[in-house]
Amino acid sequence: MKQHVKHYSIAVVALLAILIAGGAVFIYSGIYNIGADDHHTRPVFAILQTLRERSIHARSEDIQVPNLKDPQLILKGAGQYAAMCTDCHLKPGMSDSEIRPGLYPQPPNLSQVRVDPKDAFWIIKHGIKMSAMPAWGTSHDDDTIWSMVAFLQQLPDMTPQQYKDMVAKAPPDEDMDMGDEAGGHHSHGGDEAEGHHQGEGGSMDAMDEHAAGAGHSHGDEPQAASGPEAPLSRDGLTPKAAPDAEEVAQAFHGALEHGDRTVVLGLLAPEATLSEGGQTQSRAAYAAGHLSEDLAFMKSAKVVPLWMGSMPMGDTAMVGSESRITGTHNGKPFALRSRERLTLKKVGAAWKITAVQWQSAPEASTP
Ligand code: HEC
Repeated sequence: MKQHVKHYSIAVVALLAILIAGGAVFIYSGIYNIGADDHHTRPVFAILQTLRERSIHARSEDIQVPNLKDPQLILKGAGQYAAMCTDCHLKPGMSDSEIRPGLYPQPPNLSQVRVDPKDAFWIIKHGIKMSAMPAWGTSHDDDTIWSMVAFLQQLPDMTPQQYKDMVAKAPPDEDMDMGDEAGGHHSHGGDEAEGHHQGEGGSMDAMDEHAAGAGHSHGDEPQAASGPEAPLSRDGLTPKAAPDAEEVAQAFHGALEHGDRTVVLGLLAPEATLSEGGQTQSRAAYAAGHLSEDLAFMKSAKVVPLWMGSMPMGDTAMVGSESRITGTHNGKPFALRSRERLTLKKVGAAWKITAVQWQSAPEASTP
């Protein structure tokens, strides 16, 4: 018995030695072609593919995914993508580039395939060894990488025209080669953090307090605070860019002005959130509370629309508008400038509102 084990062990060791020696000869001989224009043999490819998938999956599994439908985040990602990724990953309407045919593995056409968000985040941040995919995390923060991931989720549905429009509206990428030396351009990192994260924006907030005094008063029941708000801007919005989404915004305004509760609630998606003056509440909380106050307030007020613009993004859209609201409250006349931003998503053939942001401030020269 013992004798057997001994022979067996010797055989195993001998075999291993042969394999190692064989491997060394193979490696040193230079037989394997490492050139990118010669593709891996099937077994090597299968091993690498499995290694790649397992490695990424094991590392991306626990990543927390933020809200990838945030229009501002998607827009930021459009600028990043256009600046850094199209040579290798193409864009709608582009069938090849100068660099892409020579790369092996070939970068996937990301205007046609959608990658799982967690995997995409991990890959963009860390890159992939022995491929041309760089680790963008060495030069970009997580927020910026999420913007690219958010954009990539929309990209496969985009037409060349939609892609072009969106990139044209996107905030410029700070690393974009603008022909000048670093430091010469814009403090734009800050701008964007605002759009997405609700950075500083004290002025509108302070004014909102006054607005509340003018009758749009809100009780003090507990609400989730979302922090100080950035002033709503017209960035990226163009009149009539998403006409059907604008129609929904108009129907929403009409219903608020005419006191039509059912229509107001019908236009809000079940998961919709409404925020005003830094406070965010759910549709249900709004229906149970402020909606009645808003309807009563609007009944006695006169609304003059001043501007409306929108931005389509596949199955989501954003509509911004500004209006002048006048009326009397407690016998005193008031005039407000109100800004609104709606985020909408397509449900079947109809648009539903998923987020409402309101900001209002007394007009500089209140009558
Ligand atoms: C120099 C070429 C190159 C550039 C530039 C590049 N990539 Fe890649 N990328 C690759 C290659 C090659 C792969 C495939 C690697 C692999 O599969 O092993 C890849 C893979 C990916 C994947 C994974 C795709 C999948 O099917 O799993 C994502 C996501 C990605 N890249 C995003 C980006 C983004 C976003 C940018 C711009 C910030 C970018 N890449 C810039 C070459 C590039």
